[in-house]
Amino acid sequence: PRKVRVHHLRQAKERGEPLTMLTAYDAVTARIFDEAGIDILLVGDSIGDNMHAHPTTIPVTVDDMIPAVRAVARTAQRALVVADLPFGSYEASPAQCHASAVRMLKEAGAHAVKFEGGEHLAEHVRLLTRSGIPVVGHLGFTPQAENLLGGKRVQGRGHEAADRLVADALALADAGAVAVVLEMVPGPVAARVTEVLPIPTIGIGAGPEVDGQVLVWTDMAGMTSWSPRFARRFGEVGAELASATRAYARAVRDRSFPAAEHVYES
Ligand code: KIV
Ligand code: NA
Repeated sequence: PRKVRVHHLRQAKERGEPLTMLTAYDAVTARIFDEAGIDILLVGDSIGDNMHAHPTTIPVTVDDMIPAVRAVARTAQRALVVADLPFGSYEASPAQCHASAVRMLKEAGAHAVKFEGGEHLAEHVRLLTRSGIPVVGHLGFTPQAENLLGGKRVQGRGHEAADRLVADALALADAGAVAVVLEMVPGPVAARVTEVLPIPTIGIGAGPEVDGQVLVWTDMAGMTSWSPRFARRFGEVGAELASATRAYARAVRDRSFPAAEHVYES
């Protein structure tokens, strides 16, 4: 299949074709999602709370991310692979951001990086873009800032906050960002950002009037007992996995597994 490249993102927006993005953290899921035709695989720092049993994304390091990005990038045949820059690995300066991003491409094979923040990071975006590293922005609720934002709360409510969001999105686009994720933003505000932005918006809890959607795969597939209000459970894969696991344990205990066909002859 033809690889998804950054110029296809803007093309998709111009043609009104919704972009599909999903998180992946390993080769097993990356193969399934890539073969299912997901356009963008995001190795999110949500690996922290979803895979590494951290309470938030804040403890995640670049060293945690690298093996996950590597596995996804080695596996994807078609999808664009985007690696999140984790908390503390990019904010301090464009140079710090560049060094972390270079590791994601050079050591792990990512095609682009994503990081959280607006206008104050425009210089970071500019340097990476000039260096040949595509950047995806992330605005609205930015999980790495949850201590400052006071928890998982909708962002961009009210005229002033909405104007701020639009200005941030435009600053990222102007600096060369190839797409912007909008997380937990009122639908009409996401629609406004989408209308003024030349690059695609990819929503998560941002309503339908955006250029694409992203979900954390464990929410999408129904792996957990709780999922956020903005997510739909498109399957009950967790329940199916639990049932397979119980069947396996039962078969071992009642000695129906292994059967004759699983045994090597002498
Ligand atoms: O880390 C992540 O999963 C993300 C998405 C929710 C956009 O940043
Ligand atoms: Na993230």
